Amino acid sequence: MSGIRPTGFLHLGSYFGAVRNYVRMQEEFECYFMVADLHSLTTHPDTKELKTNVHRVLSENIACGLNPGKVALFCQSHIHETAELYLHLNMLAYKGELEKTTTFKDKVRLQPDNINAGLLTYPVLQAADILLHRARYVPVGKDQEQHLEMARNFANRFNHRYGEIFPEPLAFNYGEELVKVPSLDGAGKMSKSENQLATLYLSDEDELIRKKVMKARTDSGPTLPHSPKPDYIENIFLLMKLVSEEAVIRKFEADYDACTIRYGDMKKQLAEDMVRFISPIREKAEAIRNNPAYLKEVMETGAEKARKSARATMELVREAVGLNYF
Ligand code: TRP
Repeated sequence: MSGIRPTGFLHLGSYFGAVRNYVRMQEEFECYFMVADLHSLTTHPDTKELKTNVHRVLSENIACGLNPGKVALFCQSHIHETAELYLHLNMLAYKGELEKTTTFKDKVRLQPDNINAGLLTYPVLQAADILLHRARYVPVGKDQEQHLEMARNFANRFNHRYGEIFPEPLAFNYGEELVKVPSLDGAGKMSKSENQLATLYLSDEDELIRKKVMKARTDSGPTLPHSPKPDYIENIFLLMKLVSEEAVIRKFEADYDACTIRYGDMKKQLAEDMVRFISPIREKAEAIRNNPAYLKEVMETGAEKARKSARATMELVREAVGLNYF
């Protein structure tokens, strides 16, 4: 089970860090992938763009290979049982631990005029999303580890007080190091909100992709054979490893070691390989986005699957809590 916030566009980092793992997991597990529209209300109370954003994030995930026929792909707000489990878990979550959560403290700093209780209990709602399906594996990045640990704590407290209902949800990845997708300006990773010119979005047009790649930071090249690479050059090689062919990478590695590398050529190659990678995804996502009837069907089918699992869990929860009077 995992959740995707419908704020911002998918980029190369979300693809290699998250979506690609979802696509792999769908072959092996019973999967629940959810658009976290309710979570987005804690920071984005204006809902004018919500529908567009939800449609976009669904389309982009499907275009990347997520198969709504295999997984439950659904919207959080369509599963009303979530609110009920959230209420129960709120009784097991302590004010102190919620206030200490890193993401809460960050958001307090970012939006001092809207420190609402939903922001404080964000990790409780996330735990409800996960525990509702009694999920064991949650593919998430490093930034979500604290939330997941809290979900485990709430699950254990529930089990301890009312009986074993929930398995412990664990962060899941495929053993390899989490792939880092560096940003094009040599500073940090590609991200939804930071420097948009240094991030390649799956919706970028070919010309924009070329422009962004060509602007990536380089220098005049090494002067001694087998020099270590500065970070921003290493990053260009890292990006190449994601989308270019072996032989191409080997050629530029050899050029680098021989001090004959021409970064202009390297970036041109990278730009074309990026275009080849991104443009089919962009076009597929666009086609899906322009087909609201299909999206409606996806959401309905997904919600039906998710509700089935949610209802079964809630029967157990109500019984365990002792809300069975007849
Ligand atoms: N908090 C997650 C994020 O910011 C989104 C999310 C909501 C989520 N519910 C979830 C992730 C359940 C994993 C499981 O990306």
